[in-house]
Amino acid sequence: MTIRTHSAEETYALGTRLGKMAQPGQVYALKGDLGSGKTVLTKGFAAGLGVEEPVTSPTFTILMVHESGRLPLYHYDVYRISDPDEMDEIGFDEYVYGEGVSLIEWAEKVEELLPPDAFAITIERDRAGGTDDRVIRMEGISFDENGPGKDG
Ligand SMILES: Nc1ncnc2c1ncn2[C@@H]1O[C@H](COP(=O)(O)OP(=O)(O)O)[C@@H](O)[C@H]1O
Ligand SMILES: [Mg+2]
Repeated sequence: MTIRTHSAEETYALGTRLGKMAQPGQVYALKGDLGSGKTVLTKGFAAGLGVEEPVTSPTFTILMVHESGRLPLYHYDVYRISDPDEMDEIGFDEYVYGEGVSLIEWAEKVEELLPPDAFAITIERDRAGGTDDRVIRMEGISFDENGPGKDG
């Protein structure tokens, strides 16, 4: 499904809904340009999981692990990865195929390492809109009238 947001707060709130419905072992592949809102969405997601500590952009560490929520959250930012082989060094597979929830910013850089059932979330600036408008395309995710749910 596709959702349009008009502020960082709305994108954060979308992330919170996703975090509340997250299940063990899920992988969310976040795609989109610098400044599109991947970290904003991740912060909301962490809040939805009940993560207590602040979530910062892990660009310089590649991985931040948050264990204070309902499920472990593995927050990746793989922007600086130049070769997917580098991901072995940080134990990518152990986490991504583990019981926590993985959110991977810049997932397009490690496409070949993503599990086939990863949820792709692509955030783009809405060219027809203002500077705070985003189009967020979520593959394999839907919300029904009872709140968030998963299709497929
Ligand atoms: N609709 C929106 N959704 C998300 N972020 C937005 C939106 N409108 C404006 N912003 C701003 O865009 C920036 C997104 O930054 P960030 O989440 O760090 O991007 P990324 O992690 O994709 O590089 C923030 O400064 C945020 O306030
Ligand atoms: Mg980011």
